[in-house]
Amino acid sequence: MNQKINFMILDEVNLNFARILNDVHLENLPNDVMPNFGPKFMEKYIRFLTQNSNGATIVAYHNTKIVGFLCLRFKPLYLRKLLNFKAILYFMNSSRKKPRLILNLIHQLINTSTKIHHTCEIDFFVVSKNYTSKGIGKDLLAEAENCAKKKSFTSISTKTKNRRLLEFYLRVKLASVVSTYSINGQKYTNLRWKI
Ligand SMILES: CC(C)(COP(=O)(O)OP(=O)(O)OC[C@H]1O[C@@H](n2cnc3c(N)ncnc32)[C@H](O)[C@@H]1OP(=O)(O)O)[C@@H](O)C(=O)NCCC(=O)NCCS
Repeated sequence: MNQKINFMILDEVNLNFARILNDVHLENLPNDVMPNFGPKFMEKYIRFLTQNSNGATIVAYHNTKIVGFLCLRFKPLYLRKLLNFKAILYFMNSSRKKPRLILNLIHQLINTSTKIHHTCEIDFFVVSKNYTSKGIGKDLLAEAENCAKKKSFTSISTKTKNRRLLEFYLRVKLASVVSTYSINGQKYTNLRWKI
């Protein structure tokens, strides 16, 4: 990379911007529930984060191109309350091609996030394919930790099915495993680490 990567915390979002984030998300994690609700729902979710100190969205840029992002949430999110008819229709259309999405959604609706005292949560963490393994993810995590500390959080939690990333959290962040579960034969791990 001949230009450095810049990081920005979003203070507002519009549909075009949400569409780009949605595309980056969908390209790299096609079976995640969120991007399959479509860009309008992504806009709604990012707006939820930017308002009332509900959370923060940190975006990584290479020149003007968005190459990754991380969504950090400070307050509980009730997916059911955020959903509307259009988002559900969009999801149903996506899930015709990817039926495993349905089980992922059911799991998310049943397991509404609970708030653990002094802990905030990384909902989404994605770096574009051509930009992975160059340290952008580590920098996004460092930005998220700074953000969380400024809000007086003392730990961060997240979940992942990426085995390599799990090892990284355990080895580098000294994270502890909170719980594990499987959906569609894929093992997910809930983790938490001190910041
Ligand atoms: C996981 C991800 C966000 C990390 O961003 P990144 O810029 O590639 O990360 P870095 O180069 O800073 O490396 C940090 C750690 O990320 C993981 N990682 C890096 N590249 C990766 C890749 N191509 N695939 C999977 N994990 C990767 C590794 O654990 C790495 O630490 P290690 O090299 O010591 O094992 C990014 O690789 C990605 O989006 N992968 C695909 C989607 C995904 O799994 N997202 C996480 C869902 S919870």
